[in-house]
Amino acid sequence: MSTATEQDVIDLLLAQHNQIKTMFAEVAAARGERRRELFNDLVRLLAVHEAAEEQVVHPAARSKAGEEVVEARLHEEDEAKHALSDLYDLGVDHPEFDARLAALEKAVVDHATHEEREEFPRLRQETSPERLRRMAGAVRVAEAISPTRPHPGAGESATANMLVGPPVAVFDRIRDVVRDWRQSNKD
Ligand SMILES: [Fe+2]
Ligand SMILES: [Fe+2]
Repeated sequence: MSTATEQDVIDLLLAQHNQIKTMFAEVAAARGERRRELFNDLVRLLAVHEAAEEQVVHPAARSKAGEEVVEARLHEEDEAKHALSDLYDLGVDHPEFDARLAALEKAVVDHATHEEREEFPRLRQETSPERLRRMAGAVRVAEAISPTRPHPGAGESATANMLVGPPVAVFDRIRDVVRDWRQSNKD
């Protein structure tokens, strides 16, 4: 049951923008196996975040913020996914990893800034609070299958294990889950 105080989709996505920035810094600061784990967490978080935006936010924003704005955001998301794949293939111990992670961080932060300036305000202005709260379900369903912060020492769940791997596969898996949610919720 929705309540007026429940966070809407934009609240959740803004919080994730901050979480994404923090995780880039954590990956950059870590080394070895810890860096690999944190990089996998970053892949899952970005996959959750961009899947929700791709499936519910960008389609809703198309008529409000304009085709060009939305197409530019989708293009940036696609580029980020491929840059993540290149980093995954390179490996966290490669001498070029740091410089390429920093370049991706800049691109992802710029992308988030564009969304916050050009897309989210129009969406919030022109969409009912009730619908924005319903759209938050897309973020929650993706987070439910893809915990980005397993409890330390608890071991990874079967779900999390399944979602470790090439970024393109992780993105596809989470996108399918959010798409199923959207189709069964008609939003
Ligand atoms: Fe995005
Ligand atoms: Fe975003």
